[in-house]
Amino acid sequence: MTTTQRAVLVRAYGGASAAEVAEIAKPSAGDGQVLVRVRAAGVNGIDWKFREGLVQKAFPVQLPAVLGIELAGTVEAVGPGASRFQVGDRVMGPLGQLGAYADFVAVAEANLVHTPEGLDDVQAAGIPVAAVAGWLSLHQAGPIAAGQRILVHGAAGGLGGYAVQYAKQAGAEVFATASTASLDYVRSLGADHVIDYRRQRFESVAQDIDLVLDYVGGEVLDRSWDVLTKNGAIVTAAAPDILARTPAGRRGLWFVNKADTTLLARLAAEIAQGSLLSKLSEVVGFDDIPAAIERNRTGPRIGKVVADFSR
Ligand SMILES: NC(=O)c1ccc[n+]([C@@H]2O[C@H](COP(=O)([O-])OP(=O)(O)OC[C@H]3O[C@@H](n4cnc5c(N)ncnc54)[C@H](OP(=O)(O)O)[C@@H]3O)[C@@H](O)[C@H]2O)c1
Repeated sequence: MTTTQRAVLVRAYGGASAAEVAEIAKPSAGDGQVLVRVRAAGVNGIDWKFREGLVQKAFPVQLPAVLGIELAGTVEAVGPGASRFQVGDRVMGPLGQLGAYADFVAVAEANLVHTPEGLDDVQAAGIPVAAVAGWLSLHQAGPIAAGQRILVHGAAGGLGGYAVQYAKQAGAEVFATASTASLDYVRSLGADHVIDYRRQRFESVAQDIDLVLDYVGGEVLDRSWDVLTKNGAIVTAAAPDILARTPAGRRGLWFVNKADTTLLARLAAEIAQGSLLSKLSEVVGFDDIPAAIERNRTGPRIGKVVADFSR
């Protein structure tokens, strides 16, 4: 039996070449963990930020580190104290830490759910982080009421695509920013007002907004105070320093994702049944993961990119 495996590793923070395919030791399942043979892993907007050390304050990581935060695969072994899964079960989930871009990963069984029938591993791998984070960030500032006006920045991305759908299901009036090539996609998710952020200032369309979901950060966040109602809130997944940037008397919340297996199982079932759309824009092979991480930083993107480990 081989004792090493492929992994996408960062030894020192940096640009595109800082993430490389390397051989590392194969892990075994510890207490409360299962060993997962990874079949596919989702590429996320946060991967390149880990690679560059930009989120080190909010999410500290020890180097060298294997990148990747979500996976789908098959249970290869069950560790001591783990009881929810059996060898051979198909599972999916977020790791709650780094390490998904490796052939075998020891995962806390508390983070995983059974992959529903009707979802293949490539589809499943792109769901755990974005679907759950989109839901939790939408609801972080309080319950959503019908008729509420919600602005989603980065609506074509992983989290944004889900948030638009959830907000519509809750009866909200949804304003959504995206780039030109993504406008039809965002409209197809149900957004009522689609704003091409490269050609139009969102302030000229979106006003009296009750909730801004910010998946972009930077000046997009800073400009968003002007479109909020007096009691409105901004929830950001992209700007950990939002508290320092929140004007006096306004409400700004930093979102931190959590593993929620009850929620993940429900959302994955909805996707398998076709009542929730999970958009896959690209499937890459294992060796292409470092380039896909970099493309996620630089290029236009719709929905999710997933790495298929069999390619
Ligand atoms: N705090 C947490 O726990 C947590 C968890 C998960 C993710 N995140 C963060 O949440 C953010 C979104 O993640 P993701 O995976 O959804 O990223 P993603 O898939 O890369 O999506 C980002 C989207 O933002 C769009 N965009 C870029 N600039 C924009 C602008 N000025 N106005 C409007 N849209 C713009 C991009 O569209 P174009 O490419 O067309 O420009 C892209 O569709 C990232 O910052 C990620 O780090 C945080």
